[in-house]
Amino acid sequence: MGFQNLSLMTFMMILCITLYVNCTDIVELENHSDKRVLAERPNSFIQRNGTHFFLNGKPQYFNGFNAYWLMTFAADPSTSSKVTTVFQEASQHGLNLARTWAFNDAGYKALQTSPGIYDESVFRALDVVISEAGKYGIRLILSLVNNWKDDGGKKQYVEWAKQRGQSVSTEDDFFSNPVTKQFYKDHVKRVLTRKNTVTGLLYKDDPTIFSWELMNEPRSLDLSGKQVQ
Ligand SMILES: *[C@@H]1O[C@H](CO)[C@@H](O)[C@H](O)[C@H]1NC(C)=O
Ligand SMILES: *[C@@H]1O[C@H](CO)[C@@H](O)[C@H](O)[C@H]1NC(C)=O
Repeated sequence: MGFQNLSLMTFMMILCITLYVNCTDIVELENHSDKRVLAERPNSFIQRNGTHFFLNGKPQYFNGFNAYWLMTFAADPSTSSKVTTVFQEASQHGLNLARTWAFNDAGYKALQTSPGIYDESVFRALDVVISEAGKYGIRLILSLVNNWKDDGGKKQYVEWAKQRGQSVSTEDDFFSNPVTKQFYKDHVKRVLTRKNTVTGLLYKDDPTIFSWELMNEPRSLDLSGKQVQ
């Protein structure tokens, strides 16, 4: 039997078995206007043993996608509905993991407008992103700063340190200057201890968050590997 002959329901059942999700919900699929039925909001953390992921002792496999723009879109009423749509469509296609930004330093729709100062409306947008992901059973990899200058990144951290009188010259000072290092540590702490205004959970206690990425695509001008390997 060709793949195209499989009915949608059969396909979904195979998919749900492959993904180890709750198959009882699948029955609702046909008549549900909101087709969010492939998975439920995560209530346990993903664990790792060696090179394998587990959920409550059962092996887990992930189909992921990258969507850096979710928070920025969520922060703008003209695009915020796309956040729900993308998670809805992703879950319908069996995706269960997304990587996105938990940073935006200075500039347009900044989360952190200056060191330690946050735009609450943008933080609420990130709250919504996490909550919506959870609704559709999609876990998140949250990235905490950019290697590149897009949305701020290490260049912006170095600029902030310069404005405070630090003698910094290259973007790589991000990795060694005590002031940039403290700004970064403060940001990590602020994000991980954020209480989500939708779910009431601290980010660090939310099983929807699969993992934290310390930096997007980290690298250094120093090719010896001494600063960043
Ligand atoms: C879906 O709705 C139709 C018509 O209302 C009904 O005949 C059918 O049994 C329903 N299917 C499921 C899976 O509930
Ligand atoms: C991790 O896997 C190893 C090798 O399969 C096994 O011996 C060990 O008990 C596992 N650890 C946990 C915490 O499950």
